Amino acid sequence: MAILPNKLGITSQTELNRIEEKVSKQKAKHLFDSGDMNFIEIGTFKGLSEVHRYLFEDIYELAGMMRDVNIAKKDFLFAPIMYLKDSLDYIDKMPQHSFDEIIEKYVEMNVAHPFRDGNGRSARIWLDFMLKSEIRSVIDWNVVDKKDYLPAMERSPVQDIEIKQILKTALTPKTNDRDRFMNGIDASFYYEGYFAYKIKEL
Ligand SMILES: Nc1ncnc2c1ncn2[C@@H]1O[C@H](COP(=O)(O)OP(=O)(O)O)[C@@H](O)[C@H]1O
Ligand SMILES: [Mg+2]
Repeated sequence: MAILPNKLGITSQTELNRIEEKVSKQKAKHLFDSGDMNFIEIGTFKGLSEVHRYLFEDIYELAGMMRDVNIAKKDFLFAPIMYLKDSLDYIDKMPQHSFDEIIEKYVEMNVAHPFRDGNGRSARIWLDFMLKSEIRSVIDWNVVDKKDYLPAMERSPVQDIEIKQILKTALTPKTNDRDRFMNGIDASFYYEGYFAYKIKEL
């Protein structure tokens, strides 16, 4: 895969991965510490794109913007761009009152995969904001094992029972706990192969 065009003029994928991790983790930390997270719209594509832009705007021109290419992972084709806008409008209207409804919405957003990259990391933050606001709980991502999480997400478009179970077990009422948030960001980035920096040391 070709390296994504970036604002920093970086042409080495290894270097880009490191800088992206460093900068976006610093931004994630600031999202919490500044209180900016309280202004993110809950449960909509607009809110998700606010999170995505917040994390990645210093690196990618396309931060927060809907992709204009089709993408697949393993054998799974995410929403074809032809249907992406309709799919996002539909997801905006999905209910988000219970844990099950919220996870179903999260699974649909993963199927939509609105951005060229950074969907996983931004959607997990978006998911936590929904859970916090609607059911006064969040996921403790530190207790969610990558080996369980990723296969469950891969199967989720067909069968969401597994991901619901994994995430339900990891629910915590510590919605405003800074350690939980920061360690959760490190875990979330680890799922996607980014583990060169610890957020608290940035
Ligand atoms: N084969 C698959 N089928 C469905 N979802 C997948 C598949 N592979 C990965 N995912 C989901 O996509 C996310 C990664 O998307 P990506 O845009 O690369 O995010 P990031 O850049 O934050 O890693 C994973 O966290 C997982 O939720
Ligand atoms: Mg990725």
